[in-house]
Amino acid sequence: MSEQRFAEQVAVVTGAGSGIGQAVARQLAVEGATVIGCDVDAEGLATTAKLVEEDGHTATMIVVDITAQADIDRIVAALPDQRVDLLANVAGVMDHFLPVTELDDATWDRVLAVNLTGPMRLCRAVLPLMIARGRGSIVNVSSIGGLTGAVAGSAYVSSKHGVVGLTRSIANLYAEDGIRANAVCPGGVQTNIGRSAAPKVPWAYQRLERSFGRVTRTATPAEVATLICWLGSDEAVNVNGAVVTSDGGWTS
Ligand SMILES: NC(=O)c1ccc[n+]([C@@H]2O[C@H](COP(=O)([O-])OP(=O)(O)OC[C@H]3O[C@@H](n4cnc5c(N)ncnc54)[C@H](O)[C@@H]3O)[C@@H](O)[C@H]2O)c1
Repeated sequence: MSEQRFAEQVAVVTGAGSGIGQAVARQLAVEGATVIGCDVDAEGLATTAKLVEEDGHTATMIVVDITAQADIDRIVAALPDQRVDLLANVAGVMDHFLPVTELDDATWDRVLAVNLTGPMRLCRAVLPLMIARGRGSIVNVSSIGGLTGAVAGSAYVSSKHGVVGLTRSIANLYAEDGIRANAVCPGGVQTNIGRSAAPKVPWAYQRLERSFGRVTRTATPAEVATLICWLGSDEAVNVNGAVVTSDGGWTS
């Protein structure tokens, strides 16, 4: 593996203020990318900027809410020379393991907006720029909840299945333009996602818990980031439309 796979490349990373997105931003900066880290959490972004500096690099951080089209426009406006080589859609929230019969519209709307509509809008915004240059790579973070209904609530599972569909659609329709799109499906990762993961409906959580017995290990954010960076890099030139698990065998 070359240490400078992203030299002279521009990378946009959402969710860069915490967890997996923070690890992706750090790795990309180490590997030579001009990183634009995006997150709704200003404090988290400041921490990421500090970590990147401690690694001996710099990165641009933008406070955005990816559910707002105006903020998507601000990300695009921040791109140097309107160029983007890699989009890593990492930001996401959970849904308190709510089953559909207990699901309120606000939770459904919020989870779909952050996990699916925001990533779609960012893809829609950067694809023309990528197509104009004949190259570009998109890595969308789904979840094993994008492959099975057994690990989260109805809104989260629906949003993450949607991310898989969005990824495959882009991979299929834009391959001839030099674009690749792939999805990563993590299992358990030590991050701050727990903020939106406190179970609210005991019976539903008890039913979901049956599948948690299959968990073999919990990953570090860096362990998932390394897969995202590889898929985003030119080393993965022949990988397009892949949906890759990083779950220690949970769904095996
Ligand atoms: N941690 C896990 O076990 C796990 C498992 C499978 C999939 N995932 C997925 O990994 C991705 C990263 O999550 P994480 O585990 O690092 O969690 P995290 O909570 O540590 O990080 C998620 C980041 O997304 C940001 N974010 C939330 N809403 C946003 C918005 N509207 N606009 C901009 N930023 C927003 C948060 O502020 C946070 O910094 C998510 O898509 C999540 O669904 C996580």
